[in-house]
Amino acid sequence: MSFLSQTLARVKPSPTIAITGRARELAAEGRDIISLSAGEPDFDTPAHIREAAKAAIDAGHTRYTAVDGIPELKRAICDKFAQENGLDYGPAQVTVGTGGKQILYNALMATLNPGDEVIIPAPYWVSYPDMVLLAGGTPVVIEGAMANGYRITPEQLEAAITPRTKWVILNSPSNPTGAGYGEEHMRGLTEVLMRHPHVWVLSDDIYEHLVFDDFRFVTPAQVEPGLTSRTLTMNGVSKAYAMTGWRIGYGAGPEALIRAMAKLQSQSTSNPCSISQYAALAALQGPQDYIQESRAVFQRRRDLVVEGLNACPGIDCPVPQGAFYVYPSISALIGKTSAGGAAIADDEAFATALLNETGVAVVFGAAFGLSPHFRISYATSDAVLADACARIRAFCEGLR
Ligand SMILES: Cc1ncc(COP(=O)(O)O)c(C=O)c1O
Repeated sequence: MSFLSQTLARVKPSPTIAITGRARELAAEGRDIISLSAGEPDFDTPAHIREAAKAAIDAGHTRYTAVDGIPELKRAICDKFAQENGLDYGPAQVTVGTGGKQILYNALMATLNPGDEVIIPAPYWVSYPDMVLLAGGTPVVIEGAMANGYRITPEQLEAAITPRTKWVILNSPSNPTGAGYGEEHMRGLTEVLMRHPHVWVLSDDIYEHLVFDDFRFVTPAQVEPGLTSRTLTMNGVSKAYAMTGWRIGYGAGPEALIRAMAKLQSQSTSNPCSISQYAALAALQGPQDYIQESRAVFQRRRDLVVEGLNACPGIDCPVPQGAFYVYPSISALIGKTSAGGAAIADDEAFATALLNETGVAVVFGAAFGLSPHFRISYATSDAVLADACARIRAFCEGLR
């Protein structure tokens, strides 16, 4: 019998590990590698947030706090939801965890029983299906086609719902596509959900502030208040304020769910880092200029990358509404052979050959549940992005 748990055996090793490992090996050999795989802003955390953290240390905020967040932060989160999303939550309906990731994990662990189904639109953030499996549930994947802007349709959602459906996970703007559900698209989904009162909604709003052009962010409970009593609205400071390492995420939902999630957290990690909580408080309550500034930079980079990729023969790159990812199609390249002699049988082979022959590391689409595509994170400088696009173009031009 294996020493390791049967639960762990249900989880796949990350499909991105192979390419990341290969990129590391090549860099160690002295190759010039451009990694476009990291999902985090390349900016420093704004100064006033860093100062608030230093002040928190000096003020002695270095001890255990309430398990799921200090009261000041919970109140600031309620204010954020009221002002930015028109959602009316009290502090007892708010939970703070070690990153948005822990909030999602807590919610699934606290609610799933064997046989419970969770609807996950693909392409999806890699952690959703594995978290569902760890919690003993069954992921039910539905495909958001590129022709539909990578969004699922109300009809697809309706068809995927069964009596065993417990949650549907929505993520707008999305990792890995950057696709967003505007009010009209979101309403199409909330109308379906209103017809199925046993289905709960997990809305991952972590990229809320990274939206471009005239796209207006909406969250399901805002579009359809009738869903509030069965929605967990999740968000965090990682992407909005360049705070990925601080590990603060939060969620708001019905009190009974929030209490169950806190119970789980009390027996696993206890409170999120006390200092980070004060930093998050400063992020939510302080000047918001960083959000506008970073949005402008990411929009410029998005335009640069979309243009650069669409200039590559065989790559078709739609324009995303948000986040800092593009998810181009390479269907026209499947079956070709690279200048270095690699057969491009699928998107994993494309990513491997691209890395070996040009030094550009991207994540292949199969990792996110929709092929043949690849994901680029453009959270890096314009110069690096221009270099990467030039190398990808030369690679595509060399395909036969
Ligand atoms: C879609 C999505 N949700 C949640 C997270 C978790 O973010 P964090 O745990 O840093 O708050 C990420 C991070 O990459 C993400 O891309």
